[in-house]
Amino acid sequence: MQHVNPFYTTNNIPSRYFCDRAQETETLVRSVTNGNNMVLMSPRRMGKTGLINHVFTDKRIGKEYNCCFIDIYDTSSLQEFTFRLGQEVFRRQSAGGIRKGARFLEVLKSIRGEFSYDPATLGPKFALSLGQIQQPLRTLEEILQFMESSSKPWLVAIDEFQQIGKYDEKNMEALLRTRFQRLANVTFIYSGSERHLLYMSTGTLELKPIDRDKYVEFARRQFKNAGKSITKDAVEGLYDLMEGYTFFMQKTLNEVFASTEKGGDAGQIEVFAAMDYLLDTADTTYRNILAGLSKGQRTVLSTIAVDGHAENVLSQSYISRHYLGAASSVQAAVRSLLAKQLISRDADTYFLDDKFLELWIRRCYGISLEESWVERGREG
Ligand SMILES: Nc1ncnc2c1ncn2[C@@H]1O[C@H](COP(=O)(O)OP(=O)(O)O)[C@@H](O)[C@H]1O
Ligand SMILES: [Mg+2]
Repeated sequence: MQHVNPFYTTNNIPSRYFCDRAQETETLVRSVTNGNNMVLMSPRRMGKTGLINHVFTDKRIGKEYNCCFIDIYDTSSLQEFTFRLGQEVFRRQSAGGIRKGARFLEVLKSIRGEFSYDPATLGPKFALSLGQIQQPLRTLEEILQFMESSSKPWLVAIDEFQQIGKYDEKNMEALLRTRFQRLANVTFIYSGSERHLLYMSTGTLELKPIDRDKYVEFARRQFKNAGKSITKDAVEGLYDLMEGYTFFMQKTLNEVFASTEKGGDAGQIEVFAAMDYLLDTADTTYRNILAGLSKGQRTVLSTIAVDGHAENVLSQSYISRHYLGAASSVQAAVRSLLAKQLISRDADTYFLDDKFLELWIRRCYGISLEESWVERGREG
């Protein structure tokens, strides 16, 4: 039997290694099968993409829908959006055979003649370059019309949807949302992490951390299945330290699992060792990140990391308490840290999404992992 580490840190997790999310899966499946678009919201690395992939493989979805996933984080115009969607629809369509792929290309009248055939497979090739989409709205409409006329309905997940609000074209988000709303054969899941930028409708699912007891049970079961063990305290402490952020727990336990021999028992010490190792590995990366910041940005970032959840960072009392200098420069620093995605904000509270970076900064300031562990741990 092939040896596999049960703690996945990539997406497309086989269902037996996928922890819980039963209720969230039901909610999404129910909304999709009833033709309702949904918004899926959570901080980064909580598990949105993983959940979407999980839904795609659900038996009520996978075989019944043409499922597409596009991440538009690095797009900045409707032209790029249309390109991304066209590419993905084409890929999905071609999976059903060359003729199906070709049929899709024929429908795109606004850019007809720009496609080529792949000499290797003799199949159609999405050889379009971005600049060829001269009338993005028109091309987009053609793509949507194609999807509307398919015999199998489409399910399109658009990751980092809030990005559309930053497009060169104004009001694009509202315009697209309204247009998508009217489609009968296409259902959408809009996911995003920037709460203040994301349009919240009645159909919004806020993805919270996985339930603590469920995650602890899941993690210990994975060790047990492999003839290893990990203490309850160790997993609970890890959960609290990482505030339930799925990625950082998985990454740490992946390491703990790998360094625990068959028949071996892991506890708090092994979890610390794994975290120390992971922070050391990230050392160069983190140093480079900090080196790319201005002194003011570095100071604000470190202050927030040491604080954990920093409230009212822009208030005069906070600024003077932490010797941050002029209010206007703190404001500018916060703005660029948000733009660089090094910090996130929920109402008036600022925090780091990257828990490893947070712990790494704290460690630089002499706050050991053990101290952070105790500080974050639940009482009792
Ligand atoms: N239910 C789950 N069980 C186990 N691991 C998960 C689960 N959900 C997410 N993960 C892991 O956590 C990491 C972060 O999840 P991801 O879906 O990429 O977060 P997001 O899209 O919210 O940024 C993924 O790499 C994945 O390996
Ligand atoms: Mg994601």
